Amino acid sequence: MSDFLMTRTLDEHAAETALRHDVLTGLTRSPKVLPPKWFYDARGSELFEEITRLPEYYPTRAEREILLERALEIAAVSGARTLVELGSGSSEKTRHLIEAMPALDTYVPVDVSESALKGAAQTLLAAHPGLRVHALVADFTKPLRLPESPGPRLVVFLGGTIGNLLPPERAVFLADVRAMLSPGDALLMGTDLVKDEAVLVAAYDDAQGVTAEFNKNVLAVIDRELGADFHTADFAHVAVWNREHEWIEMRLRARSDLLVKIRALDLQVPFAAGEEILTEVSAKFRQAGVRRELAAAGLELTHWWTDAAGRFALSLSVADGIGTDGREGRADGTGLTVPAPDTAA
Ligand code: SAH
Ligand code: AVI
Repeated sequence: MSDFLMTRTLDEHAAETALRHDVLTGLTRSPKVLPPKWFYDARGSELFEEITRLPEYYPTRAEREILLERALEIAAVSGARTLVELGSGSSEKTRHLIEAMPALDTYVPVDVSESALKGAAQTLLAAHPGLRVHALVADFTKPLRLPESPGPRLVVFLGGTIGNLLPPERAVFLADVRAMLSPGDALLMGTDLVKDEAVLVAAYDDAQGVTAEFNKNVLAVIDRELGADFHTADFAHVAVWNREHEWIEMRLRARSDLLVKIRALDLQVPFAAGEEILTEVSAKFRQAGVRRELAAAGLELTHWWTDAAGRFALSLSVADGIGTDGREGRADGTGLTVPAPDTAA
C-alpha cells in the first residue's frame, strides 16, 4: 500500500489504562454502565458489519440511500480536497462520497478499531490508487491532531454514531468539531430519526441474535484484556425504548446472582439477579433538535436530506456565519452560499 499511513494516538498501553478506568468506575457505581466504544475490538467491528446487513437494521440502508442520491451535491457544495471521517469503521458507505469527489486528495479515517481501519484502507486504495489515506487510531471524544492536508475539509460522522453519545458529551464533541473547521470546511453528519417504537426495538433486538452477540462482546473484551471471568451466557441482551429521552438503551441483564472477578483490577463485582449494565444509548433525533445542538456548538445547519421513507437524515453544517466558500454569512446568520435546508421530519 503505497499511500497509506497510520498514526496511533491510542497505543495499547493507553487503551488498556482507559479500559481499566472505565470498567472500575462503571462497574462500581449504581446503576452499572460501560461506554460503547469498548464493543469494537476486531470481533466487535465484524459483528457491527453483520448488524448493518440485518433485515431489521434499517439505518445503514437508509443512510446509503441518501448518500447515493446526494453524493454529487455534497461533493459540489463542499469542494473538499480532504475528507476526515470520525468513527469510520469499514468506510463502506463513504466509498460513495469518495467516488463523487474526483478532486479528493486525502482521506483521514479516525477510529478506535485498528482492524477496521486497516481493512477499510486496503479496500479503498485498491479502488482509488491515487488517494492518500492517513488513518488515525484515536478516540474521537478526545482532542485530535489532524495530519497536514489540503483544504477545504469535509468532516463526516456517519451511521448515527452521534446518538451513542449522551447529550453533554454531544455538546463537547460538536464544539470540538466546530474548532476543527476552517472557513470553507463543513460537517456532514448522519442522525437516525424518531420513529415507531416497534421498528426501533427490532433494529436493536434482531431475530438472529447478532445484536445480542455484539452487546455481549464487551464482556469478552473485558475478560481478555483485564483477566475477568464474565460468562456471556450469564447475561441476557436487553433493548428498550426510553420515551422520555428518545433513545434506545442496550443493557446486559444478569440472569442470576453473580460475583465476577476482574484480576487486573483486583476487584470482585457483585450482581443481583436481574441487575443490568447500561452498555449503549442510541439516541434518535428530530430536525429541530439537530439544528439546536449544532447551533449551540457554533454550527449552522445548511442542508437536511432524508431517505424516501424519512427514517434517517444527513445534515450538512458549517461554522456559524461562514459559508462553504469561506465568505462571511449574512447578518441574520443564514449562509450566503448555500440554500435553505430541505425540510423533512
Ligand atoms: N461509520 C460507520 C461505522 C459505525 S460503527 C458506519 O456508519 O457504518 C461506530 C464506529 O465508531 C466503529 O467503527 C467504532 O470502532 C467507532 N468508535 C466508537 N466509539 C469511538 C470513539 N470514542 N473514538 C473513535 N472511534 C469510535
Ligand atoms: C454505531 N452506532 C450508530 C450503532 C447504533 O445503531 O447505535 C451501534 C449499534 N448498536 C446496536 N446496533 C448497532
